[in-house]
Amino acid sequence: MVSAVASYVAERTGCQLSKQQEGRLRVAVRERLGARSEFEYLAFLKSAAGAVQLAELMAAVAVHKTSLFRDEAQLEQLSSQLLPGLLAQRPTLHVWSAGCATGEEVATLLVLLAEAGASADTTVLGTDISDAALQKAQALTFAAQAMRNVSESFREKYFRKEGEQFRLVPALKSRASFLRHNLMDRPYPLPPEGAFFDLIVCRNVLIYFTATAFEQVIDGLSERLLPGGALVLSSAEPLLQPRPLLKAVNVEQAFFYVRRGEPPFSSAAPKVPTPRPLARAITAELPVFNAEAEAVKLFELVLEWAAADAPDAQTEEGLRKALYLAPDLAAARYMLGLLLEQRGQRVEAAHEYARAVASLTSSKALQTAFFLNPERLTKACQLGLVRLGFTS
Ligand SMILES: C[S@@+](CC[C@H](N)C(=O)[O-])C[C@H]1O[C@@H](n2cnc3c(N)ncnc32)[C@H](O)[C@@H]1O
Repeated sequence: MVSAVASYVAERTGCQLSKQQEGRLRVAVRERLGARSEFEYLAFLKSAAGAVQLAELMAAVAVHKTSLFRDEAQLEQLSSQLLPGLLAQRPTLHVWSAGCATGEEVATLLVLLAEAGASADTTVLGTDISDAALQKAQALTFAAQAMRNVSESFREKYFRKEGEQFRLVPALKSRASFLRHNLMDRPYPLPPEGAFFDLIVCRNVLIYFTATAFEQVIDGLSERLLPGGALVLSSAEPLLQPRPLLKAVNVEQAFFYVRRGEPPFSSAAPKVPTPRPLARAITAELPVFNAEAEAVKLFELVLEWAAADAPDAQTEEGLRKALYLAPDLAAARYMLGLLLEQRGQRVEAAHEYARAVASLTSSKALQTAFFLNPERLTKACQLGLVRLGFTS
């Protein structure tokens, strides 16, 4: 009776619906169908006006089962094998919990990162398809029953008891952000700070996905990793087919997937030295090069391309590479903001302008030959934010 709607919802979530999920979906559709035929309702779901109801139906089929410190054996490997290698490269890590459900995984990662010595600027982004799950996640507060896997020492150090609830301490909570995102939709998110992710954890999400959707998501996630960054899936969903961007690393009882070589950009961009893979199991000496000097050289090259009317994709790639090497190269960030704004990517553009302003108003901005001096560059970025409606 609701088979066309069920197929559409399954396609949009990437899931192969189980009998139970189909049952839940049937109930959710019946509650919303009214006098419409299934096909009228399907057309509505596909229209912009139906976006909210589509999201509700997708959430109705989602399975949110999760827990704090889920799969301790794997987390132990993550802490002992993966984090030290990542932190040896950069003290600040940007982590994404994709399919974070009600936030337990985000809290767990924040605790493990703090224990491993990650800096206070470290961030963890939690995304999920379900608004209801995210609403709960944002509180990062858990019932006493949910704390059973949390050791006494972690409870004391990282949680505050409030009545029957345990709240993650503000210092860790402030490192978390949440976003509704469907893993079947592009573009994938970027960290609130930093170019790409050091670590993406996507556990117990893809087991419900079709094989095709699984591969699409894995490739999408890999593209959001820094070279040497790692993807962690649950032990129940190993990669059966090798993926071009990933190298499987076997550490004792777990598999991690490490992003290969080049920074995450496609096509023929100029070569810059890239950091080696980070997982401790495969960490070797890092190549010695001056990242800022490389970034400035690359930026100068981008300016030449811009003067020669190079395609936007090439310019963007060059700018992103330069910013990967030197995140505080404010002129490059401003140019990237302009490019994204022209392309209609308003939120991303505003993000770049805001970061350029932050670099420029702190003492961090990297100086380089550019037609706008720092003062004018700051003004130009602020005007960009005003144009985009982000500040008054
Ligand atoms: C079983 S929970 C896993 C939670 C956590 N990662 C863990 O391992 O404990 C799966 C989560 O994936 C989310 N999910 C399912 N399909 C999704 C999609 N297409 N995009 C984003 N999230 C999705 C669900 O809403 C659910 O919260």
